[in-house]
Amino acid sequence: MSKSRISMKSIDNISAEIENFKVSVAEDLERFRLQFLSKKSELQTLLGEIKNVPAEERKDFGQRVNQLKRRAQAFFEEQRERLESVAPTSNSQTDVTRPASMVELGSRHPISLMMDNVCSIFEKIGFSTVSGPDIEDDWHIFTALNFPEEHPARDMQDTFFIDQKPDVALRTHTSTLQVRTMERHQPPIRVICPGRVFRNEAITSRAHCIFHQMEGLYIDKNVSFADMKQTLMYFAKEMFGEQTRIRLRPSYFPFTEPSAEMDVSCNLCGGKGCALCKHTGWVEILGCGMVDPNVLENCGIDSSVYSGFAFGLGIERMTMLKYRTNDIRLYFENDLRFVKQFTPVSH
Ligand code: DAH
Repeated sequence: MSKSRISMKSIDNISAEIENFKVSVAEDLERFRLQFLSKKSELQTLLGEIKNVPAEERKDFGQRVNQLKRRAQAFFEEQRERLESVAPTSNSQTDVTRPASMVELGSRHPISLMMDNVCSIFEKIGFSTVSGPDIEDDWHIFTALNFPEEHPARDMQDTFFIDQKPDVALRTHTSTLQVRTMERHQPPIRVICPGRVFRNEAITSRAHCIFHQMEGLYIDKNVSFADMKQTLMYFAKEMFGEQTRIRLRPSYFPFTEPSAEMDVSCNLCGGKGCALCKHTGWVEILGCGMVDPNVLENCGIDSSVYSGFAFGLGIERMTMLKYRTNDIRLYFENDLRFVKQFTPVSH
């Protein structure tokens, strides 16, 4: 048997040994290193033998020994990384007195914070919070709210309809919840209804196709416009501070008569005029009005006995105003660097 034959056999043996070597702890790894990679290892001896192999076999032999060496090195590295990545189990070096690493706390999304904030301001004066479906029918979005069929007022809101079912759409406003509440309850009614709404609008820094609204509804005997004004003034001062002023501008909504839009004095410049308020000193935050008697009747409430007011406010607009951010898209991108900066607002 020639010398190279013996060596070839050793290659196979060593190869099988590497294959079957079990590494469970650091000591095993060191044994492996001594056996296969150290200067005195069998593998090293084989490498030294290459020069003694007959010339015609040398190339093949050399290639196989080197291949084996690379395998042994790769195996060693693999096992080392594996051992490093597994946590020590009953390792005597574990320091049980070391302080635990902190659990990273999550934070609430600014829109959720603002919705909770608005709800709690109204809850203090006896409103309860209710919610309802995002996907609605024509009755709750339009018809019950006094939008006559084919009336141009329906174009005020770019609705996402469901193709196969023309009667079904994504709600364009939370006023749907006025209808749902009145259909189910007789006055007195005092509710605040937060929710997500959808409109087919181009996405810009000031508008989005998804946003949030908060609907308010107060129905009882002898409810007047003055009650509405006082309620909304209370809200504005709670939200933006005691120095806040409000102003009501006449407006039009099919479901209220009379209707108004409410501005608050700009809390950035204090009313002097800045980019946020477009140099007017005022920022619009909601639409409101006395509930149209047709709406009360559509929902089964006797309009000769009861009256009331309703309002709808845009949550993103309020959040931008409160936290002084200038791009609505930030609220939907979920960039943690942005959404983690918010803490509950005090009022
Ligand atoms: N639904 C209206 C909108 O989306 C907002 C609104 C205006 C709601 C006046 C009301 C209201 O309840 O009385 O633009």
